[in-house]
Amino acid sequence: MYSDFETISSYYDDLYVKDEEYAPEAAKVKELLSAHGIAPQSDLLILACGTGGHIPYFTDEYKVSGLDLSEDMLAVAEKKFPNLTFHRGNLIDFDVKANFDAMICLYGSIGFVKTVANLRAAMRRIAAQLRPNGVALITPWSTREDFRECLVVDAVDEPDLKISRMEQVRLKEPGIVEVTFHHLIGQGTDVTYHQQAVEIGLFSRQDYLSALTDAGLTLVEEYAGSDVRGGAYLGKRINA
Ligand SMILES: C[S@@+](CC[C@H](N)C(=O)[O-])C[C@H]1O[C@@H](n2cnc3c(N)ncnc32)[C@H](O)[C@@H]1O
Repeated sequence: MYSDFETISSYYDDLYVKDEEYAPEAAKVKELLSAHGIAPQSDLLILACGTGGHIPYFTDEYKVSGLDLSEDMLAVAEKKFPNLTFHRGNLIDFDVKANFDAMICLYGSIGFVKTVANLRAAMRRIAAQLRPNGVALITPWSTREDFRECLVVDAVDEPDLKISRMEQVRLKEPGIVEVTFHHLIGQGTDVTYHQQAVEIGLFSRQDYLSALTDAGLTLVEEYAGSDVRGGAYLGKRINA
């Protein structure tokens, strides 16, 4: 089942979109795209763009549009970037009436497709909508090889918004991680509690690589630097 972002969309940027993470990540992604032939002013589609947290870091270099499944996340993005085009679509079967020079899917969002079959379907859709010599950059949501169960703890302490965040990251069954959000949100003197569990596919490195190559892309780089969260696989559509 699809994990909705209805409640979280209203405070996603405050809690998750931090310049100290998004700026270096975007800078490295741009460097990688450029190294693999993506020129300035190319058409870039940001997949699972969410609230558009990465968008401001890419608009100087590319013609950017976004795609996401969540109406709520897209509503936030559209409000922030009224001049850009957004598509509502599912990674596994999206069909946008345009093709792109580059597509990126960051912060492990590909994991939300949950199954290896869906991962392979998503890579086929990505390959189908890339122009010849186009590049896809996908950041895995951890891999089976690297996964560790953990508790994530964080907080926001702004004058008019306080958030206390704890997230349980646990293996639910082979190949599926359950992340349970526990968010306490304080505004004025009110405190609300949001709890939600989402399921994320835990794919192996080989699952990612074979999905990419079987979709017709050529693996041109695997990037493992910590500035791009999760690292990145870059696939190029070398044949027309
Ligand atoms: C954790 S958020 C990350 C958003 C953004 N990539 C970022 O780094 O800020 C995951 C996003 O993936 C989107 N998503 C989940 N499943 C999806 C799917 N099957 N197709 C398209 N988007 C999906 C959610 O709606 C959400 O906006």
